Amino acid sequence: MNYQKILEDIQEQIQPELIKGNVADYIPALKNVKENDFAMSIRLLDGQTFNVGCFDKKFSIQSISKVFTYSMALKIYSKELYSRVWYEPSGNPFNSLVQLEYEKGIPRNPFINAGAIVTTDSLVTHFKDKNIAIKQINDFINNLSKDNILIDEDIYMSELKTGHRNRALANLMKSFSNIKNPINNTLETYFKHCSFMMNTQQLATTMLFLANHGTDPLTKEEIITSSKAKRINSLMLTCGHYDASGDFAFHVGLPGKSGVGGGIVAIVPKKMAICVYSPRLNSKGNSLAGTKALELFTTITGLSIF
Ligand code: DON
Repeated sequence: MNYQKILEDIQEQIQPELIKGNVADYIPALKNVKENDFAMSIRLLDGQTFNVGCFDKKFSIQSISKVFTYSMALKIYSKELYSRVWYEPSGNPFNSLVQLEYEKGIPRNPFINAGAIVTTDSLVTHFKDKNIAIKQINDFINNLSKDNILIDEDIYMSELKTGHRNRALANLMKSFSNIKNPINNTLETYFKHCSFMMNTQQLATTMLFLANHGTDPLTKEEIITSSKAKRINSLMLTCGHYDASGDFAFHVGLPGKSGVGGGIVAIVPKKMAICVYSPRLNSKGNSLAGTKALELFTTITGLSIF
């Protein structure tokens, strides 16, 4: 298949979508982007790379970081983690508080904010210190991307100052004893990992292990066991787009994870990892043109999991 040509066709067809939707502004520093930007990268298991658009422009990975932290926590804790964060779709927005109250502080899954905060808390506990925890998360991403990934301090500070809902989620879960560390230590680590800056090519590279049964195909290093890679992929399919996860599975048909920075990663098992970037979001907080671009990709290539 001529993936370069397919990406170029998608880029052409996607143009009318690039002016639809809105850039996230509830974290003020996320507004500082070129709103109509578009990039898409494919990385095959053999290392071949195909790109279009501003594929070397770094953007805030936001919730895509939840894939990295959950992979690390699942590797460390295994089944113990499931009693603190479940693996069911929530059917609610990513920052919702309602379910947590009647489900006694146990978040539905690790990809909504509450679940990601618990996951991060488990890493802070394991590494015994918030600075060591973020360094370990950074090392994990550097190893997968074969690059030196950095935090954007402005975005981090912006969310630290305005993340009132995340503070509410963390406090509510603390009241149910599902946050073990001081709330600020866990939240600072969470806000920092959301603020890593990466481009589509780097993100596609980092996700290759999930397309290859948990082993990085470029280095042959086992990042996570094959059965855990299966679980992460299934969570990406059922929960990776919050209350639009069904919509994403329906239209795209691949495991995927979005972030409010405008990125989406998607996995074609045993073949490739894809990343698309377009910062204008739909009403559920997922990249509008990015979702359409991935839908076009699976329609043109037939490479969905179904
Ligand atoms: O906690 C937040 O609200 C952001 N740091 C991450 C949210 C996010 O990316 C949701 N994604 N679509």
